[in-house]
Amino acid sequence: MPYSEQSDLFLRACRRQPVERTPVWFMRQAGRYLPEYRALRARHSLLELCRTPELAAEITLFTVKKLGVDAAIIFADLLLPAQAMGMELEFVEGEGPVLSEPIRAAEDLARLHLPADGELRCVAEAIRAVCTDLGGKLPVIGFCGAPFTLASYMIEGGASRDFLETKRLMFHQPALWDELVNQLVKVLSDFLRSQVAAGAAALQIFDSWVGCLGPEDYRRYVLPGTRALLTNACALGVPVIHFGTGTASLLELMREAGGDVIGVDWRVELDDAWRRIGHDVAIQGNLDPTLLFGPVDQLRERVERILRQAAGRPGHIFNLGHGVLPGTPVENVLSVVEMVHRFSATTA
Ligand code: CP3
Repeated sequence: MPYSEQSDLFLRACRRQPVERTPVWFMRQAGRYLPEYRALRARHSLLELCRTPELAAEITLFTVKKLGVDAAIIFADLLLPAQAMGMELEFVEGEGPVLSEPIRAAEDLARLHLPADGELRCVAEAIRAVCTDLGGKLPVIGFCGAPFTLASYMIEGGASRDFLETKRLMFHQPALWDELVNQLVKVLSDFLRSQVAAGAAALQIFDSWVGCLGPEDYRRYVLPGTRALLTNACALGVPVIHFGTGTASLLELMREAGGDVIGVDWRVELDDAWRRIGHDVAIQGNLDPTLLFGPVDQLRERVERILRQAAGRPGHIFNLGHGVLPGTPVENVLSVVEMVHRFSATTA
């Protein structure tokens, strides 16, 4: 079992302290590409898995024990808080998440409520179970969506290509947008607090779709809410990763919004991105997840290229630029863990 047992490697890297080798974990490391996950998923819906702490803990644990990564991300879903606020959530086969009666007007927002006591407790309970099992050998990452990305699902009612309804609400009803964002900041701050209280040693804020905005709109519609959430998260005393995709034009603004670590995707060069956000903040990324399908030689070349760009500077956490895709060969994911560990240990 390649179980890593490097409890503080990841946390030290988040704080830009020196490490013997570069820590690595993967967004969506627990998912459909794993046979163990598919077996459980055949018997339970995704929401059942997320809402049953023993099952969510089991998925988190078999994943890290199999992969030998340096951090465990709690198995949950970004949309749970929307459901806890009163929206009906369903995962439709082949279509992804569907939230019925999306938020388009003041009446829709008025229907939302703060999560009832205990509504999101399943995530904290799963974190507690994982921490107990790991006994401090690996850090557990808690997470939530950033206000923009979560709001986009609540407004679109599901996944979107153009974010038409989201932008329409933002541009045409800015006061309503601000009100929605403020509500989300409150709910998500409490949610993160409960995760840290349960034992999460780091947090990641997923602003997965914020790259659909230009800098001016980011500054007006996104930065204030995200900064408020990140300020609250950082006050919890654990390192906070601020992640987005398609953010090449937004990196400086994301840095301004906050976080101890900025997560970047493959559309930017890691060294270039790091220079732009400044070497006084840590960076996470940024292998293109589709490379995991390819020949191992090419994969190794690209992994080493990223590590050379990081140049052994303290504060790099190796990850993909976005999540592991369904159908990814498991052996290639295992190979990347080994490549990162081996190459970074010999060049550190
Ligand atoms: O990273 C991990 O291993 C932890 C688990 C995790 C899940 N979702 C479980 C999941 C995490 C961190 C998420 C975050 C999440 N969920 C995000 C942000 C990260 C990203 O990829 O940008 C977003 C946008 C969501 C919303 C969501 N949930 C989408 C768009 C989908 C895909 C729908 C589909 O059918 O492809 C999901 C489903 C989901 N969440 C799955 C898993 C393992 C797969 C669905 C299944 O098992 O049927």
